[in-house]
Amino acid sequence: MRSILAVLAAVALTLVFFFVGQAPAGDPEAGEALAGGCASCHGSDGIATVDRYPSLAGQNEGYLYEAMKAYQDGDRRGGQATVMHGQVSGLSEQELRDLAAYYAAMPRTGAESSPD
Ligand code: HEC
Repeated sequence: MRSILAVLAAVALTLVFFFVGQAPAGDPEAGEALAGGCASCHGSDGIATVDRYPSLAGQNEGYLYEAMKAYQDGDRRGGQATVMHGQVSGLSEQELRDLAAYYAAMPRTGAESSPD
C-alpha cells in the first residue's frame, strides 16, 4: 500500500513539474522595459552594430530564452560568455522570457536590407 502511495505521489509531482515547466510566454512590452542596457551591444533594433556581438532581432524566442538561461547557469562558457553571464545574472526566469519575447518579435531588418 505504501509503495502504491509513493508511486502516486511521484506521478503527481511529475505532472506538477511538467505543467509548471510550461511557463507562461514572455511579455514583449515588459521585455522592452528591461532591454535598455542590452541595446548598447545588441542594438536598439536588435541588430548589433559591433561585428563581434550577435544580433537578436527575430531570433526564435525559445532559443533566446535557453541561451540566456545557459549564460545565467554558467552552462554556456567560452567566447564572450562571461560578458553575458554578468548581464543576466540578476534577472528572474520571467524577465528572461520577457526579454526573449521582445527580441523575437523584432523584424529581421538585417535580412530584409541585404543586397540581392
Ligand atoms: C557589453 C555588451 C553586452 C551587453 C550589455 C549585453 N550583451 Fe548579450 N551578448 C553579448 C556578447 C558578446 C554575446 C556573445 C557571447 C558568447 O560569446 O557566447 C551575447 C550573447 C547574447 C545572447 C545569445 C545570442 C545567440 O545567438 O546565441 C543573448 C540572447 C543575449 N546576448 C541577450 C542579451 C540581453 C537580453 C541583454 C540585456 C539584459 C544583453 N544581452 C546585454 C554582449 C552583450
